[in-house]
Amino acid sequence: MSKVFLCKADELAPGEMKRVPNEEVGDICVYNLEGTFYATADLCTHATASLAEGDIDDDLITCPVHWGQFHIPSGKAVTFPCERDLRTYRVELEGDEVYADLSAEAEEAASDDSSPI
Ligand code: FES
Repeated sequence: MSKVFLCKADELAPGEMKRVPNEEVGDICVYNLEGTFYATADLCTHATASLAEGDIDDDLITCPVHWGQFHIPSGKAVTFPCERDLRTYRVELEGDEVYADLSAEAEEAASDDSSPI
């Protein structure tokens, strides 16, 4: 298991996100949705854009470049022009620190049948 530190839990208020550089897998975006933390790849699968610079709308992240959207918990691409799903990472809380397990997808993504929405 390859676990990386993402942020302190109190660093992100609900509805906020941030980009965390990672040399192994590329930048990661960590989100706080109503007090639950999620992590996905930060790079939009449509072109070159940082999702951390986009907008959160409920449990969707909107890309800042062409406004495609992904479902944050599962990484599913839900709005054109995004068609390829985002990589997700299982998030673990240890005290007040948020970590991503780079060897595991988020449970919602892992248990999904990966069919497009
Ligand atoms: S780069 Fe994200 S929707 Fe085009």
